[in-house]
Amino acid sequence: MAGLRIDLAVMFGTVTICLAPPLSLADPANWLPSGSSIDPGPTPDEWLTNNIPLKGKPLLGKLLFNSPSLLGEKAVRIGLSCNSCHPNGHVNTRFYMNGLSGAPGTVDVTHSFWESGTDDGSFNPIPIPSLRGVSHTAPYGTLKTLPTLDAFTRHVISKEFAGPSIQPSELSALLTYMNLLESTRSQDMSEHDETTLSDHFSLLLEPLKNEDTESAQRVGRLIREELGRRAISTPAAHSKLSRMARDLKAIQNLILKKPSVALKATQDFISNLD
Ligand code: HEC
Repeated sequence: MAGLRIDLAVMFGTVTICLAPPLSLADPANWLPSGSSIDPGPTPDEWLTNNIPLKGKPLLGKLLFNSPSLLGEKAVRIGLSCNSCHPNGHVNTRFYMNGLSGAPGTVDVTHSFWESGTDDGSFNPIPIPSLRGVSHTAPYGTLKTLPTLDAFTRHVISKEFAGPSIQPSELSALLTYMNLLESTRSQDMSEHDETTLSDHFSLLLEPLKNEDTESAQRVGRLIREELGRRAISTPAAHSKLSRMARDLKAIQNLILKKPSVALKATQDFISNLD
């Protein structure tokens, strides 16, 4: 099909580009190999230090942990984030990608599929580890060659998955979140008060106050992803979440045009949420 498109394009120039089907669901090569499933099933509990509700920097880290945007184009196409393999910081024992997994819960991270240049030419799927207590398990990776979580995380993003280079502030937030993942369940689990949507929207305030429009837009996109995930997991809240996504879009447009007005609009929006 790709060859035909190119031949037509050569013959008829730009007109044929309109005739060629866009990259779409109809092209399985763009999506998960058939027979795959990356759904973890019932999500494991998140075991956090002192069971603190996530706000601010660690919450930003969790949004990044959940975002395919961290892991490059292949991951975005198949909706794959850190959380797909390490759900809530634990392990997806059902993870199965046809051609990349052996038993469920294993994956070959040095495969040409990732287009990362780390293809070692052999089919060598390895078990996905849990990240519970990961701050205490250095050195990292199967080969144990990387001494710090910082170095291993950069390795995962840029070497294994060919992701874009990560901003230092985002790497720091991601590490802050992972450092809170514990290997034992906190005693005061029942007192866990939930992270709210207002906690999520509050992440916009700091970049807006600093007039850092790029970071504010990025945070806006991460919150939209979260609204999307919640819309899928709680269909009853779908219309409320869609309204919020529209309001957020309006705020994002304001960020581009009038950052100071966007700050006021965000503050008003958050106070109406409470
Ligand atoms: C496709 C599944 C998959 C995805 C997506 C994934 N990982 Fe992993 N992860 C693995 C596997 C498999 C290992 C085993 C070791 C290795 O890579 O050498 C691992 C190992 C790790 C380790 C080392 C744990 C240890 O104790 O040595 C860390 C830390 C880690 N991953 C963090 C991340 C982060 C952060 C992301 C997202 C940026 C991520 N992973 C995305 C599969 C995945």
